[in-house]
Amino acid sequence: MLSDWIIEKNRFDIEDIEKHGSKFLLGNGFMGYRGTMEEYSAEQLVAVNLAGFFDLAQNSNWRESVNAPNPLYTVLTVDGINLDLSTLNPVSHSQRLDIKCGIHNRKTQFSVNGVNITITAERFVSMTRENIIALKYTVITDKDITVTLKSGIDKNVWNISGNHLNYLDEITNGNFFKLNCETVQLKNKLEVYETVIGLDDCVNEDLLHKATINLKANEEFEFVKFGGIYHSDSLENSHNNFLDAVKVGYDEIKNEHISAWEQIWENSDVIIEGDDDAQLALRYSIYHLCSIAPHNTDKCGIPARGLSGQVYKGAAFWDTEMFMLPFFQFSDKKAARNLLKYRINTLEGAKRKAKEFGFEGAFFAWESQETGDDACTLFNVTDVFTNRPQRTYFKDKQIHVSADIVFAMWDYCRTTGDYSLLVDGGLDLMYECMWFFYTYSVFKPHKNRYEILDVVGPDEYHERVNNNAFTNVMVKSAVDIFIRAIDKVKNIYPEYFASFDKELNWVYDFSEKLYVPQPNEKGIIEQFDGYFTLEDTTPEILKTRELIKNEYWGGHGLASNTMVLKQADVIMMLNVFKSAYSTEIKKLNWDFYEPYTEHGSSLSACAYAIVAAEIGYTDWAYKYFMKTASVDLTGDTKQYLGSLYIGGTHPAANGGAWNTAIFGFAGVSVTDDTLDISPRIPKNWNSLSFKLNWKGEELNIKITDDKVLIDGIVNSSVTVYGKEY
Ligand code: BGC
Repeated sequence: MLSDWIIEKNRFDIEDIEKHGSKFLLGNGFMGYRGTMEEYSAEQLVAVNLAGFFDLAQNSNWRESVNAPNPLYTVLTVDGINLDLSTLNPVSHSQRLDIKCGIHNRKTQFSVNGVNITITAERFVSMTRENIIALKYTVITDKDITVTLKSGIDKNVWNISGNHLNYLDEITNGNFFKLNCETVQLKNKLEVYETVIGLDDCVNEDLLHKATINLKANEEFEFVKFGGIYHSDSLENSHNNFLDAVKVGYDEIKNEHISAWEQIWENSDVIIEGDDDAQLALRYSIYHLCSIAPHNTDKCGIPARGLSGQVYKGAAFWDTEMFMLPFFQFSDKKAARNLLKYRINTLEGAKRKAKEFGFEGAFFAWESQETGDDACTLFNVTDVFTNRPQRTYFKDKQIHVSADIVFAMWDYCRTTGDYSLLVDGGLDLMYECMWFFYTYSVFKPHKNRYEILDVVGPDEYHERVNNNAFTNVMVKSAVDIFIRAIDKVKNIYPEYFASFDKELNWVYDFSEKLYVPQPNEKGIIEQFDGYFTLEDTTPEILKTRELIKNEYWGGHGLASNTMVLKQADVIMMLNVFKSAYSTEIKKLNWDFYEPYTEHGSSLSACAYAIVAAEIGYTDWAYKYFMKTASVDLTGDTKQYLGSLYIGGTHPAANGGAWNTAIFGFAGVSVTDDTLDISPRIPKNWNSLSFKLNWKGEELNIKITDDKVLIDGIVNSSVTVYGKEY
């Protein structure tokens, strides 16, 4: 039986190197450490990926997150041969990640000139000391031999668009190293510390501890190693912070780390009885969310590829608010608040962007980094036919992101009961977003309505469309939220409201007259004006028309004049606004759009899964749930967009897996004052249990075939299938 907590592979395949870097990722919200081997370097995509720390490499078109030099680098040499898994066939190899406590292990046996040498290594990225990473490295041989060992800081790490660091100086003090760096663009400081314990008689030079070790047959040789990475606010106390970790020691720090993970699981575990595959996949998704959450800062969002590397520039997208935030709202309020505060902190960038495109208010970045200025370029894809940059409209037309943020902010407030966010910049942010939409939309006097023209909806294959249903509904909901937020603030923070000196009459007119596409006579909501006139074909047929692998279907590509969509769009809308549409409308639209959907984005399957669960398509719901929940286990996703590499982990899908379990199968839904549970769990599940933190109260919920058990004390109304108990 597969363990519910262990991700493991007991063989080495060279083509796994890239995939496993993401699959076996460790992280703590401050940094991500890829699942690579200790002896690997840039060629094997080693990365210590830093959250919220960005730079522009020389001659590069875009800024991306910085990968720090690798303080865990270690290689053994026997008879002049490096024991490097990427070049030397092992006798055996296993790689293992324990998601219960965020610990990575490898065990590799090599054979060199008749001697078997086994390396075991254990490492973790500390959940209690965010700057610290630790490694325990063990060697055992079956004959007496002499080996050389090199261990230190490796500067040769993976970079997608060039070098990001100038190396200022290297300090050596006994077995301690410190590497001082600065980023090439803004000269921001980065410090990397490293030390080894248990390696005596080393020559310490060039950031490497070099030792010749006489190994006795069957006697284990072991040393431990600490790395410390510091930038921004953490620079101030870096030296003491690192020394303290070293003083406390490996075992103690490991125990602290394990306890921290225990607490995380205590708040966030979801238990599925009767389905081991689903259990592991869901827990693995939750593991990723917790490994990348900004636990201690409101200065960064969650990158679209987590902390698995620089793909998508380390930037945050709508993925955070619409796919991941619900998980944090219910299990880790602090992280959820940090994420929303980050948007408030980057409001000025959003205002600059609105201005840049001729509007007013706040147009949030499609790809957001530390300032909120948009990291997305206008030419985000390279055409595989001509190798020319291709104009894309993600940046300037995917305006729904500002509405998504407003929606998420309100959802956070009503779920956690923490409305203070509104007076901590939230109401201002909402106002600016609404003003942006007001300046963007077009009033059609003859129809007496506002329309939203020239946008890109979630389905990126159809650019510059008018009245995308998702966008219009999202904006309408955001305006109405703003109106509710105004009332709320008026009531509970009257003094603040008195100082909120804004003219608001236009908001009510905008809300009343904003056009919201409705189902047609067949019950179908048209994705955007004119969608029904496009060629009626399917993703399978388009695939047969491809001339080149990785051809981009958007732009002027294969899908744009057809009804084929990249990802859930109308279905995403039905998923977000559950109560606004009847089951019949949901069914009709699900049946209609599903065959056209490519699921070319990992954000797609969960929307289909959740709506399928709601309308009783349980088998479909299960199929799409497993697709979402196992995306980073199988690694079975698109790796290229045109010639752009987009591999890595998929936090939005990870969030989507949790959303499907909780909102889809458990049927949890919240309004401003109520929480309802209307379950429809898959037939093969005996039970589904989880904890929700709702308005500051803890609810323990267990759903079986015929029962919903709720344990907790609440002040507001909790209903089951709409009925109060
Ligand atoms: C999807 C977007 C998503 C982005 C980052 C794209 O492929 O179409 O919806 O925000 O990836 O995950």
